[in-house]
Amino acid sequence: MHFLEIKDFSKAQLRGILDSAVKRKNSRSGLAKGERDSDLPLKGKIVALVFERPSTRTRFSFEVGIRQLGGEVFTSSGGEMQLGRGETVADTARVLSRYVDAVMIRSKKRETLDEFASAATIPVINGLTNMTHPCQVVTDVMTLEENKGHLDKQHVAWVGDGNNVCASWIEAVGVLGGSLKVGCPLLLKPQKEFLDWADKHKAAVSVMTSPEEAVSDTDCVITDAWVSMHDEDVENRHNLLRAYQVNEALMKHAKKDALFMHCLPAHRNEEVTDAIMDGPHSVVFDEAENRIHAQKAILLSCFGKV
Ligand code: CP
Ligand code: NVA
Repeated sequence: MHFLEIKDFSKAQLRGILDSAVKRKNSRSGLAKGERDSDLPLKGKIVALVFERPSTRTRFSFEVGIRQLGGEVFTSSGGEMQLGRGETVADTARVLSRYVDAVMIRSKKRETLDEFASAATIPVINGLTNMTHPCQVVTDVMTLEENKGHLDKQHVAWVGDGNNVCASWIEAVGVLGGSLKVGCPLLLKPQKEFLDWADKHKAAVSVMTSPEEAVSDTDCVITDAWVSMHDEDVENRHNLLRAYQVNEALMKHAKKDALFMHCLPAHRNEEVTDAIMDGPHSVVFDEAENRIHAQKAILLSCFGKV
């Protein structure tokens, strides 16, 4: 089974993934990073990671997670494959399906992921596209819930660019419950298809231009880079987003014990100040660690083991 978008899953399926992630995290307490999980659920399996864009967390957390599950892993950049010289995405998917048991792909465009998944005969995982970042948001929900309890009782604020991570957050709230206020400039609001989906599924998602209003009375404040990897209009985005910096003054509008999350990499003192990144609200490095645990659960769900 593929893991392409959060909206492809039922609430029960996502809860299964989240529960498995927490269980696996707890069961490793005291184990060395390189030690395998005792049940070795991916023994005999090989996973390929393909990156058309740079990555630190997604790459290394998948590599570590797959090894902990007892599987083998290979990583390649799209540019060093024949994919970079014009071999079709579908043929690449057919070939890799003969070599490995699952592929995680970070593609420049969503269409590449979809084409790859349609031609592959093995599970395919979305490791970020220009449109969504579902592995990140499963991790984010896990991190929020380990601090605050189930998402369906939480109020979340997204501040800044209504980008790919925000889109997966909209889907997460639509499937799991809770509420999401997106505070963003009008020109950078989440794409219509995600807002239409939220409407259709009666998700508690609202969009506003005031960052203070978005953050007000929320349990968790999230932001991301002003310029994502696929964006080109750097100066324009800086101008539009300067007023959306998460700093101490803005955090004061959230609940006193609100969390601060960021998928990272952070651009310190642009979208978030050092004081917030390194301050008492921040759980950004727990969030980064949780990528390992969440992705192990995602992989296991692809193999029907969750
Ligand atoms: N958050 C995230 O996906 O980070 P990388 O781009 O480093 O993988
Ligand atoms: N929105 C960011 C996320 C990076 C993990 C990007 O797409 O570059």
